Amino acid sequence: MSKMMSIIGFLLLSIIPPTHAIDTISSNQILRYNQTIISPQETFELGFFNPRNSTNHYVGIWYKKISTKSIVWVANRNTPLTHTSGELTLTLQGVLLLRDSTNGKVVWSTVNSSSNSSSRNPIGKLLDTGNFIIYEEGDNIHQEDPIWQSSDFLTDTLLPGMKLGWDKITGIEKHFTSWKSDDDPAYGEFSSGVDTRGYPQLMIREGHNIKFRAGPWNGLRLSGVSNLRPNPVFNFTFVVNQREAYYQYNLVNASILMRLVLQPSGRLVRLVWIDGKQEWNPIVIRQNELCDQYAVCGPFGSCNMDKSPVCECLEGFEPTSFDQWKTTDWSQGCRHTIPLDCNPGEGFNKYSNLKLPDTQGSWYNQTMTLVECENMCKRNCSCSAYTNSNTSGTGSGCLLWFGDLIDIRTVAENGDTLYIRLSASELDSIENSRGSNARRKVWVIVPITFVVSVILVSICLFHRFYRKKQQQEGNEPRRHLENRNGNEDIELPLFYFSTILKATNNFSVNNKLGEGGYGPVYKGVLEDGHEIAVKRLAKTSTQGINEFKNEVISISKLQHRNLVKLLGCCIEGAEKMLIYEYMSNKGLDLFIFDKTRSHLLDWSARYSIINGIARGLLYLHHDSRLRIIHRDLKVSNILLDADMNPKISDFGMAKIFKGNQIEANTNRVVGTYGYMAPEYAGDGLFSIKSDVYSFGVLLLEIMSGEKNRGFIHKEHYNNLIGHAWGLHNEGKSLQLVDKSLAESINISQVQRLIHVGLLCVQRFPEDRPNITSVIMMLGSEGPLHPPNEPGFYIGKTKQDATESSNSYETSSNNELTVTILNGR
Ligand SMILES: *[C@@H]1O[C@H](CO)[C@@H](O)[C@H](O)[C@H]1NC(C)=O
Ligand SMILES: *[C@@H]1O[C@H](CO)[C@@H](O)[C@H](O)[C@H]1NC(C)=O
Ligand SMILES: *[C@@H]1O[C@H](CO)[C@@H](O)[C@H](O)[C@H]1NC(C)=O
Ligand SMILES: *[C@@H]1O[C@H](CO)[C@@H](O)[C@H](O)[C@H]1NC(C)=O
Ligand SMILES: *[C@@H]1O[C@H](CO)[C@@H](O)[C@H](O)[C@H]1NC(C)=O
Ligand SMILES: *[C@@H]1O[C@H](CO)[C@@H](O)[C@H](O)[C@H]1NC(C)=O
Ligand SMILES: *[C@@H]1O[C@H](CO)[C@@H](O)[C@H](O)[C@H]1NC(C)=O
Ligand SMILES: *[C@@H]1O[C@H](CO)[C@@H](O)[C@H](O)[C@H]1NC(C)=O
Ligand SMILES: *[C@@H]1O[C@H](CO)[C@@H](O)[C@H](O)[C@H]1NC(C)=O
Repeated sequence: MSKMMSIIGFLLLSIIPPTHAIDTISSNQILRYNQTIISPQETFELGFFNPRNSTNHYVGIWYKKISTKSIVWVANRNTPLTHTSGELTLTLQGVLLLRDSTNGKVVWSTVNSSSNSSSRNPIGKLLDTGNFIIYEEGDNIHQEDPIWQSSDFLTDTLLPGMKLGWDKITGIEKHFTSWKSDDDPAYGEFSSGVDTRGYPQLMIREGHNIKFRAGPWNGLRLSGVSNLRPNPVFNFTFVVNQREAYYQYNLVNASILMRLVLQPSGRLVRLVWIDGKQEWNPIVIRQNELCDQYAVCGPFGSCNMDKSPVCECLEGFEPTSFDQWKTTDWSQGCRHTIPLDCNPGEGFNKYSNLKLPDTQGSWYNQTMTLVECENMCKRNCSCSAYTNSNTSGTGSGCLLWFGDLIDIRTVAENGDTLYIRLSASELDSIENSRGSNARRKVWVIVPITFVVSVILVSICLFHRFYRKKQQQEGNEPRRHLENRNGNEDIELPLFYFSTILKATNNFSVNNKLGEGGYGPVYKGVLEDGHEIAVKRLAKTSTQGINEFKNEVISISKLQHRNLVKLLGCCIEGAEKMLIYEYMSNKGLDLFIFDKTRSHLLDWSARYSIINGIARGLLYLHHDSRLRIIHRDLKVSNILLDADMNPKISDFGMAKIFKGNQIEANTNRVVGTYGYMAPEYAGDGLFSIKSDVYSFGVLLLEIMSGEKNRGFIHKEHYNNLIGHAWGLHNEGKSLQLVDKSLAESINISQVQRLIHVGLLCVQRFPEDRPNITSVIMMLGSEGPLHPPNEPGFYIGKTKQDATESSNSYETSSNNELTVTILNGR
């Protein structure tokens, strides 16, 4: 019968006149290739399209007004037409059909998704919201509750006002799925939607696995996206009630074009159209940190990007397997230090600034109070934690967890509070230790810069005091000093000036290794045979004093096998010196940029050097107690020990960041051309991502044996980065590799490393991976995102260098660390 009807419908079809824009299609019309439906305000357009590099044809919706064709919805994403003879029709029953007119076959239809109220006079209409609806003509009410609408079947884009989530009445679940690739709208790997197995939460999945959990709504924001704040451009909300559970965002100024897209790579980006630039600008939603990886720390583990290692057990918990935990295998997570036994004395400990754990299997009631919530949790021994479901205002509602708590994260601010069940004795011991820690806590909140200056001052004061005492006793200074001013131990031994004079043969020219950022560097041999490198601050340098202090502060507390080790200092009268372990193979530049010595570093040696540098940088950025931005990472600042282990050196330019600071601005740009990220060289903006940029340059230099700055390609005048980018895009990245590596290379490793290098030198800092991701990429074999255009890839030189710095001697001196004073 219905077949009969559609045949009749087919016979009645007329062709849409191609002359003027229409916003509707009625049941007697047919839409062909090159014909479109346009929304009333001409915001959106519906019609046939074919993706850039594809021979397939689809029906879709895109923005009408902008130059770049940006598809927001695709009808037949999995069943493309291979030619242009498609016909889109609306049947009398209100079903939209896409037919292949060469054989009459239906390639796509809404038949399985329409509610089956047989309609009498259906109309299809494209709205200015980007939604295409099919409704019963003549009654505007029906537009509110259409027979079918495209926004119930999202593709990869969520537009303002559209709902992402569940309609419990109709049973429709709206989620969006990435395209397979930029050229293929078929279902990709990634999907995003609201999970309602428990208190509703937003997540991104890769296949069936959870990739990233944006978390439950706490009345103000999504618990896992604490950095998403109220802003003047769009507002967002999450509705949970009897009927629906959905996420939605709305534009404050409707004339802005914005879309939320799940890209083929799995990245969720919010894009804003910039008319002036005629391009979509991304507002990236953070989801690429190690801690964003689902359940990275296992049950009852908490992930904290400011800690080293990132995983720790919550208070009252200990690693389930100490051995595995030590090897950073956190999969088994943590367990109660004192197991629970359902004793009535059990209670709850309060934890703050968390991303709430996975709410699958949780229970909630939106009207209960916190006290009722606690009682409810306490009564049920399998209830492991509770909190308010709505933190807005004074807090309301009840959210209960049962069993393991998974995917918790500790954040610096805007985190949530969670009450976790602990045994009575555990609660007692926490109570006791809080008492004795009270004083310590006061100390911790003193700003770190202040702590650092106190340390520095006390080094010097203590040094004087101690030296006098030592001289009276006639001993060499003790190696370990304790700073009595706080709880900090600094292990910074002091050397007599006379010891250094002897070791360096009175600073003999023969012992000179090179010129550092603030003075010469000498080799020395202590009486016990230990070899040292001595950095001597030039007496006349005033700028040097700051760098000297900076270096002491930065490095005195750092201990890592890929950082050069500070053995001590020497301060006597006007003399100021830093004493380092001596690196017998000196600078990496002496190998890779030297035509004869480059043969000494084969592929596996370079590979392990690159990995070592990355680990050193990881320690600086994330694993040490301070977050340090090196700011002058370059080949000549990488030293090699006797076993060719790389060590990062020269912390004269380094900056220490406070706990959650991620970016800073300086009007004194220091660094080395060729290694400086565009936003840093240009705007003085530095962050861990500007170090990552330098790391990327370094990586490409190590692979190619060429200097980024010195390199100018004969044909296209690109520098090394530009050359690498070009070769990569042509699939010829192997050509970049240093010829002296010859047969030693591992082709897949080489290609992967060049790819990672290009990801690090991407123009926009937000595109660059952090060093944690870099290490994961280096050590794994999964697919990598394609890199975007790099920064500074046309060879560009500026000659206003004012200062030079290399750790040890360099083969040539054209690589200067420069200081630019930005007039601002
Ligand atoms: C669509 O329009 C383009 C340009 O006007 C024309 O080249 C093409 O042949 C048309 N295609 C169809 C199927 O009508
Ligand atoms: C897509 O087409 C562009 C321009 O024709 C071309 O540069 C690019 O390499 C193509 N990409 C793929 C993946 O085929
Ligand atoms: C509609 O659903 C039925 C049964 O689930 C299925 O056999 C049929 O292929 C579907 N039709 C379309 C056009 O998806
Ligand atoms: C759809 O049709 C079936 C059978 O014809 C009927 O049982 C069902 O109630 C209808 N659903 C709606 C939403 O009208
Ligand atoms: C968001 O903004 C829109 C448009 O200004 C407004 O209609 C809506 O009420 C706002 N929603 C919330 C939750 O503030
Ligand atoms: C909305 O944005 C447009 C374009 O940016 C601007 O011209 C207009 O004044 C804005 N309207 C409001 C109410 O802010
Ligand atoms: C939520 O709790 C309130 C107060 O305890 C109670 O009246 C209500 O029935 C509960 N609702 C549900 C859905 O359990
Ligand atoms: C405790 O909660 C779990 C999960 O909701 C439930 O299955 C169990 O019956 C409850 N036990 C008691 C004693 O209420
Ligand atoms: C959350 O709390 C605020 C402030 O009390 C209230 O306005 C809002 O309606 C609550 N939200 C829900 C979903 O209960």
